[in-house]
Amino acid sequence: MSGLARLGTRALHLLPPEAAHTASLMALKSGLVPIPPIVADPILRTSIAGLELPNPVGLAAGYDKNGEVIDPLLKLGFGFVECGAVTPRPQAGNPKPRVFRLAGDRAVINRMGFNNAGLTALRSRLSARLGRPGVVGINLGANKDSEDRTEDYVTSLLALDGLADFFTVNISSPNTPGLRALQSKAALDELLGRVMAASGAAPVFLKVAPDLGDEDLADIAASVRDNGIDALIVSNTTIERPETLVSHDRAETGGLSGRPLFDRSTALLKAFAQTLNGAVPLIGVGGVEDADTAYAKIRAGASAVQLYSALVYEGPGLVARINRGLAERLKADGYSNVSDAVGADV
Ligand code: FNR
Repeated sequence: MSGLARLGTRALHLLPPEAAHTASLMALKSGLVPIPPIVADPILRTSIAGLELPNPVGLAAGYDKNGEVIDPLLKLGFGFVECGAVTPRPQAGNPKPRVFRLAGDRAVINRMGFNNAGLTALRSRLSARLGRPGVVGINLGANKDSEDRTEDYVTSLLALDGLADFFTVNISSPNTPGLRALQSKAALDELLGRVMAASGAAPVFLKVAPDLGDEDLADIAASVRDNGIDALIVSNTTIERPETLVSHDRAETGGLSGRPLFDRSTALLKAFAQTLNGAVPLIGVGGVEDADTAYAKIRAGASAVQLYSALVYEGPGLVARINRGLAERLKADGYSNVSDAVGADV
């Protein structure tokens, strides 16, 4: 990390987590964040669901909920950026405090509850940057008080058609009561059927929770395959609390992300890779914090990875460091492109 970036990241940790998040958005908007040298190595160039990526390291949903800093984030070197979650109507989310740094565990617990400015606001931001380079996706959520949550995904998909490179159906946030029930077989089949009928040219991804049993996994894999979903994102945050957690806030309600999520989410990724056997591409998320963890996800079956929590601890230089390290590891193992390493450990 450059001296300035390191100082900035340390300074942010003097603030409560949500204030630090807001400050980091402001810093990105104002151009105060030092831009790391972009790692443009052809070995990292890849594609997923027909989208051409300069590298396989993406920003996970939840950081730029309202699409305010898409272009500055792309400048940090992300191969793709996922904004949202957006819900059709603006929503305040849960009472604060609702996000906690577990520094000793290199983890985060959040129960934000889909706070966002709503569809109309995101629509105008995306319209304003239409035609600019970079792969940008939108994470779709449902309003907490919605009568028909499935309809919320359809509404957003139709309203944002033509404004994003991909859409993610997110039914795996633990912070909207009942949302994860949409992962069960009958509900998921209905949801994905309706969503795919409404979808336009942009690919549609599904994002799942890490807290799934073997039966859930088999059902989800079948539903994803049968409904023609373009990629599966594994995974969202966990409601489990590993015994290893040492931080003060470890018992807070919400979804746990970061280092303690790595093993669980990578094991699930690998299980989906085995079950789907190449039928649907995978994106690995959960505890990616350096080149080794990114490479492990790829070898476990991920065509691309995403991260969020590690940015909190490592700062904006992280993306370039991961990409540099990834290129080195691929070369050391004799690969000519990152896509050749996908699933090497499966
Ligand atoms: C998230 N995450 C998330 N995921 C999603 O699909 N929609 C969302 O709106 C959010 N919001 C959100 C807020 C905050 C504060 C955090 C920390 C996380 C989950 C995120 O995209 C990712 O799946 C997990 O955090 C696991 O990755 P990391 O953080 O371990 O790299």
